[in-house]
Amino acid sequence: MDYKKVINSMTLEEKASLCSGRDFWHTKAVKSQKIPEIMVSDGPHGLRKQPKSADHLGSFESIKAVCFPAACATASSFDRNLLNKMGKAIGTECQSENIATILGPAVNIKRSPLCGRNFEYFSEDPLLTTELSGAFIKGVQSKNVGTSIKHFTANNQETRRLTVSVNADERTMREIYLAAFEGAVKNASPWTVMCSYNRINGLHASENKKYLTAILRDEWGFDGVVMSDWGAVNDRAKGLAAGLDLEMPGSYGVNDREIIDAVQSGTLSEKALDKAVERILKWIDKYESKKQKDIKWDKEADNELACKIEEESAVLLKNEGGILPLDKNDTIAVIGKFAKNPRYQGGGSSHINSYKVTSFMDAAKGKGHDLIYADGYNIDKDEIDRALITKAVNAAKKSDVAVVFAGLPEAFESEGYDRSDIHLPENQNVLISEILKVQPNVVVVLHNGSAVEMPWEKDVKGIFEMYLGGQNVGTAEYDLLFGKANPCGRLAETFPRKLEDNPSYLNFPGYMDNVDYAEGVFVGYRYYDSKHIDVLFPFGHGLSYTTFKYSNLKVSKRKIKDTDTLTVSVDVTNIGRMAGKEVVQIYVAPPQDGIPRPVHELKAFEKINLRAGETKTVTFELGSRAFAYWDKDIQDWYVSGGDYIIEAGSSSRDIKYEKKVNIESTVKRIPTITENTCFGDIMNDPRLTDAIKPLLKSYLHIEQEDKPKSSNAAYEKLYQEYLKYAPLRGVVAMGDGTYDHEKLAKAIKTLQSKLG
Ligand code: BGC
Repeated sequence: MDYKKVINSMTLEEKASLCSGRDFWHTKAVKSQKIPEIMVSDGPHGLRKQPKSADHLGSFESIKAVCFPAACATASSFDRNLLNKMGKAIGTECQSENIATILGPAVNIKRSPLCGRNFEYFSEDPLLTTELSGAFIKGVQSKNVGTSIKHFTANNQETRRLTVSVNADERTMREIYLAAFEGAVKNASPWTVMCSYNRINGLHASENKKYLTAILRDEWGFDGVVMSDWGAVNDRAKGLAAGLDLEMPGSYGVNDREIIDAVQSGTLSEKALDKAVERILKWIDKYESKKQKDIKWDKEADNELACKIEEESAVLLKNEGGILPLDKNDTIAVIGKFAKNPRYQGGGSSHINSYKVTSFMDAAKGKGHDLIYADGYNIDKDEIDRALITKAVNAAKKSDVAVVFAGLPEAFESEGYDRSDIHLPENQNVLISEILKVQPNVVVVLHNGSAVEMPWEKDVKGIFEMYLGGQNVGTAEYDLLFGKANPCGRLAETFPRKLEDNPSYLNFPGYMDNVDYAEGVFVGYRYYDSKHIDVLFPFGHGLSYTTFKYSNLKVSKRKIKDTDTLTVSVDVTNIGRMAGKEVVQIYVAPPQDGIPRPVHELKAFEKINLRAGETKTVTFELGSRAFAYWDKDIQDWYVSGGDYIIEAGSSSRDIKYEKKVNIESTVKRIPTITENTCFGDIMNDPRLTDAIKPLLKSYLHIEQEDKPKSSNAAYEKLYQEYLKYAPLRGVVAMGDGTYDHEKLAKAIKTLQSKLG
């Protein structure tokens, strides 16, 4: 298509109308130019194609599809290939349903465990998020179907999500909230980006030129369409000027009129409109020109894949005395309604109309395995039902092991609202404690979208975190519990012991329309680990039925420049008797002598498969970004010179080996010296040694008679520390009279010139 020609022959009205949806899910056709409409659909963990009545909260019927595990689960796989496969499967489903773009992945950082939508998001860590979502995007788009990475950006809570202003400093935005998008945008080139509802430092994300254009397009090279979240538009003309191409779902022409008026009155340049139109045309063309027809998708195959993905994602949190895998010959009491009616997906726009659901009990029945069962609790109301508990306790009493299926009922967490605590329903906690009175062998299997407190954690022997495991969660549970599959998921978020320990606790969800991200970059384990806070389960934690041994951590060099790439390798051996998968995690601990930085951060990871007895060498490349922080003074990533520790481990709290590497910074930073620059900040710079002497001399009255004759260690210390933070202007106010402000200005000029 010759886009320029098409745009030149479109009327202003046609152009404006292309910049908003025809309805909930379609763009508008431009008949005069034979431009067809295309359809988008939620996502992200299955297809929510609504053929008739439409909404963005998942209440009207959508077509029957496969519900894959939600991102809270898939992130725990730490497995790029797996996410890629899932993307391919969803891409194929989209092709067969003529969906041009799926509205996902959702990559917002889990700032607080309270966010109602955490189940849809990947992690508290931006690297893990961006790597896995990038793999998903590549998978979907390999089928010539677009993705819409969302919600750009800093949409980390549901409370007042349409109006709240996220107040965060630039470094925090760069290192945490933008970084979650950055890698995926740069490496996987999503066709579209969905802007978020919230404001960022006062300005709506939908009209934020800094994010939508300067960073996203100019810096990261994004060349696709930016669409609004559903109803995120505040001022349409301002949005368009800032880089928001498409308004969804569309305001039945009301906002198109605003665009036309703005162009006609000269407040919006037609060029900006043409740019948006061109991007939308390219997007439509990209899909339409290679549209695959008559693609069939195989429901059963995708249902199997959903099970496989869940098996690779579920996290074995505790396995005391090797209670798991269960022995089929044992008498097992299965307790809890979630064993029959699992909670396997979250509520809201990502809600899938699953074509079938397999519970744990269905899966056991399918294998001809008879198990004792008791409901144990109600899902609909959190009331303690003594009759249900008694039945469950009796079942547990006459068994060798009790397996309790617990978790959060649907109403406890959803898009649209946040949680107010991280408790499980009281009726489930009471049930577990009653069962523990009669049965020492208790395993808890959890179904929830975000971290929960576990008051019984020390007393039960096994804990499996299934998260929201998709429609085939029951089969995965059966295979994992009985050892047909070996658990290999790792937590993509920290489980705190209590909500109050979370770094955002005092600032979540903010007050009225403001939320301050006062914890800065110290999100999740970056905070817990820096403060040595005892946690329930750390980031990256997860057990296996086999055991891995690390050895031979190597770094390619002990001394590098910030422009070099460091190669890190480590050997991992499966010393158990069963094949299994390990997630090798590389953290970097930066020097702590400058700007406050987390004690360590995840900088690389790899999931490897090892047969019993097998050893593999895992190799990682760490580029400068692995050592850098965002420096607002130079408006760039900056690696400060010093010693960095490279850590290899299997969780943020289980570091097996470490190696020190010295990095030399090649970036010349020229500080601007003023009267308020402190002596301590410049007096050790070798370039200034001579030029600063006269100032020091004057300030310290070195040649005066009343200089202290004797000194002691405390006095020396006081003297040094005092000087460190003394501003140069002190030579005027406190010096020996040599300097007035004019002379000081001259001296400062000389100092500055020495810095080049
Ligand atoms: C959600 C988006 C979703 C859209 C369409 C919005 O409320 O925030 O994630 O894609 O609705 O359903």
